[in-house]
Amino acid sequence: MEIDNVLLTAYEIEIIQNILNEKDTVDRIYINFCNPWQKPRHNKKRLTHPKQLEKYKVFLKPGGEIYFKTDDENLFNASIKYFEQEGFKIIAKTDNLHENPIWENNIETEHEKMFEEQGITTKALIANLS
Ligand SMILES: C[S@@+](CC[C@H](N)C(=O)[O-])C[C@H]1O[C@@H](n2cnc3c(N)ncnc32)[C@H](O)[C@@H]1O
Repeated sequence: MEIDNVLLTAYEIEIIQNILNEKDTVDRIYINFCNPWQKPRHNKKRLTHPKQLEKYKVFLKPGGEIYFKTDDENLFNASIKYFEQEGFKIIAKTDNLHENPIWENNIETEHEKMFEEQGITTKALIANLS
């Protein structure tokens, strides 16, 4: 499918509701190598935290998807629970996106390249909102 309506914007995620709402009917969100925020008191800042997923659900349309990838195993495992807790279905996941791709035409990000060069695999999943 040819994509002709991508929105790229730099905006503080915690106030994303100021620029996107239910009228936007977004098909897909990509979350690439967000900060892991390991300390429990910082978990809420994770871009996959339930607090954030609640916000994405407002503008993600039924059947919409989140494509998520990270180098961080703890964040990845916690995020699987966050997505399920928020009613998303994990339709595909991998501990090594480069060896076992779950989507076509992966675009390697700056951090992905850096971690892969260090031998740290890319963990990835597709979460679907029915
Ligand atoms: C580790 S970098 C990854 C950059 C790029 N996605 C990549 O894969 O190379 C994390 C990115 O998340 C963005 N970020 C972190 N917290 C954010 C927030 N609260 N709202 C919006 N962006 C945020 C940062 O600006 C930064 O670009």
